[in-house]
Amino acid sequence: MSPASNDPNERFSDRYAASAAAALIEAELEVLGTDYQANGYTTRAEADEIGDRLDLRSGSRLLDLGSGCGFPGLYLAQRHGCSVTTLDPVASGASASARRSDRDGIGDRHLAVIGSGGDLPFRRHAFDAVVHVDVMC
Ligand SMILES: C[S@@+](CC[C@H](N)C(=O)[O-])C[C@H]1O[C@@H](n2cnc3c(N)ncnc32)[C@H](O)[C@@H]1O
Repeated sequence: MSPASNDPNERFSDRYAASAAAALIEAELEVLGTDYQANGYTTRAEADEIGDRLDLRSGSRLLDLGSGCGFPGLYLAQRHGCSVTTLDPVASGASASARRSDRDGIGDRHLAVIGSGGDLPFRRHAFDAVVHVDVMC
């Protein structure tokens, strides 16, 4: 068996481009309590705790680093009414998260950015809170 690639595009691009089979979403709902094509181990209850600790509210500007298809950033934006920028090097993840925020009616509070946490394309003080789950940048 060959070792997993360290290139996020090689690892995740196809996965994020494919729409998840109903059975996978069902499994995700059962295990994590989410339906974002989440790609980690963070549960909805843990995301709730993160959002509460960050004191997110309407007007807060949240950055989600390594957001994949948008979890937990989009979930937190919906739950707390804040705006969110999701950032991931994988373009298909950014597309998936943009589709999801449109579907959820929060597209006007969401910006999907393709980039790396190691070289952030933002000015200082652009965000009030940063979240990253199951990602090491
Ligand atoms: C295990 S997935 C978790 C995705 C998402 N947070 C979730 O819970 O579904 C890790 C993510 O980190 C992203 N990633 C890898 N290197 C990164 C970097 N340098 N900066 C930002 N994101 C990165 C990958 O593309 C991948 O989407």
